[in-house]
Amino acid sequence: MITIKSNKEIELMKEACKIVALTQKAIEEAIKPGISTYDLDIIAEKTMEKYGARSAEKGYPSGVKGVPDYPANTCISVNDVVIHGVPSKNQILKEGDIVSVDLVALKNGYNGDMARTYIVGKGSEEAKRLVEVTKQAFYEGLKFAKKGFRVGDISHAIGEYVKSQGYSVVREFQGHGIGKEMHEDPGVPNYGKEGRGPRLEPGMTICIEPMVIEGNPDIWELEDGWTIATQDGSNSAHYENTILITEKEPKILTIC
Ligand code: MF3
Ligand code: CO
Repeated sequence: MITIKSNKEIELMKEACKIVALTQKAIEEAIKPGISTYDLDIIAEKTMEKYGARSAEKGYPSGVKGVPDYPANTCISVNDVVIHGVPSKNQILKEGDIVSVDLVALKNGYNGDMARTYIVGKGSEEAKRLVEVTKQAFYEGLKFAKKGFRVGDISHAIGEYVKSQGYSVVREFQGHGIGKEMHEDPGVPNYGKEGRGPRLEPGMTICIEPMVIEGNPDIWELEDGWTIATQDGSNSAHYENTILITEKEPKILTIC
């Protein structure tokens, strides 16, 4: 069921989204060679706490028997890890690493979801292009995040753009509606057909989140039951904002 948010709910969404953006900022400032992904996770936890929020990722159910609930405050996915990388004290960032940080802040019962990909230090030209294309893929989708279009129009725009740049989109994971739940209807795939899927209506809040792989699109899950990595070992990037569909242009809520 797709929920249409009231004005009061939109205000609450904005608050959660602002906090998640502030948390991304704190992480961006802290990323440097030598820091562990665990250290970044603690920075996220403290920042959210400072603003009266908490991570909605911590304790998120896996839905799979034998796989524990999500153990950390953040998903930090380095290089060939696409999404759901679990922070660790043993994972020390080094110059050139491609680090995707996916955060969900929960405040007053509403979720804000945002992912960014950072390059540690200078980074290669290839890495920069991958990160840029992933960001632009979000904006290609955003052009259709309007009343009068359908979810498939967003999906199609993202998929075609990424393909045109010689990269692959992840097919097994997608964007989503968001509100009281981190994941609500509709699903927002990163590929698809124009003119298909649910109609976009003012008051819908959705996450558009291209996950882009440099090489082959095939992914697999690591033994922890969470970490998703590319099969061919190629790098990947992720870019996500929570947005509001309005009568006119979409509004990006995950800003500070
Ligand atoms: N933030 C992710 C998304 O974009 C989901 C995180 S999964 C969790 O949908 F288990 F870590 F919560
Ligand atoms: Co999301």
